[in-house]
Formats: sequence, structure tokens, C-alpha cells
Amino acid sequence: AQAEKPPKPHQKTEIVAHRGASGYAPENTLAAFDLAVKMKADYIEIDVQRTKDGKLVIIHDNTVDRTTDGTGKVGSLTFDEIRALDAGSWKSEEFAGERVPTFDEVLKRYKGKIGILIELKSPELYPGIEEETADLLKAYHLDKPRNGKVIVQSFNFESMKKADQLLSRVPIGVLVNRSADTTDEAIEQFSAYAEYYNPSYGLVTEELVAKAHEEGMKVQSWTARSKETVQFLLQMKVDGIITDYPDYVK
Ligand code: G3P
Ligand code: CA
Repeated sequence: AQAEKPPKPHQKTEIVAHRGASGYAPENTLAAFDLAVKMKADYIEIDVQRTKDGKLVIIHDNTVDRTTDGTGKVGSLTFDEIRALDAGSWKSEEFAGERVPTFDEVLKRYKGKIGILIELKSPELYPGIEEETADLLKAYHLDKPRNGKVIVQSFNFESMKKADQLLSRVPIGVLVNRSADTTDEAIEQFSAYAEYYNPSYGLVTEELVAKAHEEGMKVQSWTARSKETVQFLLQMKVDGIITDYPDYVK
């Protein structure tokens, strides 16, 4: 009789702190990233955009309105204007004075300490941002996997094809939130340039995860904001859980 294959060792599910430990501290600030390190997350997730004068900064929305005390588009404000804003008080007075970090500052502070899941947010608004990201990662020697865990992801697939060309040794992720991007055909196409297939949790099934694995991609799903969602994603055998509450996964 054919011997049974030994069971595969259980791979640990990686914890990705979404915009930092953003359930507890203002998203995309050093306070939220430091807390993610303290909570022993495996990665911080960051959103990269560009100021009017060309500085790469970490902020989620296309305007500063929700997460700072200012108003206006990220791409229409200078770095000095954005840096002067308070990015903490909206969450709680305890975080008054937190600033919008630069991409450079985040790489410098967290390289080697925690993985960094880098989202290029609306790259279509910032032509050339893929090249600028590649240059910065190279300056920190993060274009080689042995120097630190980084992944570059986006909802913009054309941008990720470019990033893959520029950063051949950095894993690329596609962010998926439409069921049209869950077909076998779509997944096969993504696998031509991506190493991570990252769907919203509402799209996740065991079959979807298995299909991505079959095509050689890992799966990190988002955004888990309840213990039930964390539990569900663990059952679906995803490789990583992107969550505002990194402590829930433990
Ligand atoms: O990392 C996944 C997640 O961040 C994508 O959605 O809107 O939070 O950037 P969003
Ligand atoms: Ca994001």
C-alpha cells in the first residue's frame, strides 16, 4: 500500500498591523508602527503617496482631512505644509503632535525590526512613484530579501507590473476587492508578476486560498477588525491577516 504522506508542518499565520496598530493609535504614524513592533506583529502595512514637491509620505486618504487637523489633497500640499499638521489628535489627545511620516523615515526606523508591507496608494495620481519607490528601497538595500522583509502591493495592477520589473527580487502583491478578480483565469494572470494575492476577507474561501497557493502565491487578507473575522481567516488558512488589532491574532 502506498504510504501516507506526512502532514505538512503548520505554517504560522503572519500578523500584519494595518496602517500600524491602528485600532489603538492613529493610523500611519510612528506611534502606531512602534505599537505594532511592541505587539510583535510580523509586518506593518503603510500607504505611500507623494507631496506637491515630490516627497514620499505615509498617509491613507488622498486628502489630509480625515487624519490630520488640515485640509487639502496630499498631492497639492508641500511637504512642509503636511509636516506641520497634527496627525494624532483626531484619534485621541494622548497622540497630539504625531506627524505624517516620510517613507524614508519609516524604512530607516523599521528596517530589520519588522516586515514592511508597502502599499502604493493611488499610484495613478503620482506618475513615476514606482521608480522612486525602487530607488529608495535600493538605497536601503531592501531590494534584496536577505536584508529585511518588504512587500510592495497595490490595487493598481499595471503599477505592480512596473514594480515587478524594477524590483525583481522584491515580492509583489495584488490587492483584490472585486469578485471578477477571483476567477481561476484572473489568479493565473496575477501569478505572472505577483507573489502575494491579497483579497478583502469578504471574498475569501478555502478554494480561493488553495487556488492562489496552487499558482505559487501567498495570501494576506484584510481588514480584520473583529475576533470573529480573525477566526474565520485562520480557518481559511490564509498566510497573513492584515488587522487593526495585531493582538487579536495571538
Ligand atoms: O493592506 C490592505 C488594505 O490596506 C487595503 O485597503 O483602504 O486600507 O488601504 P486600504
Ligand atoms: Ca493600505
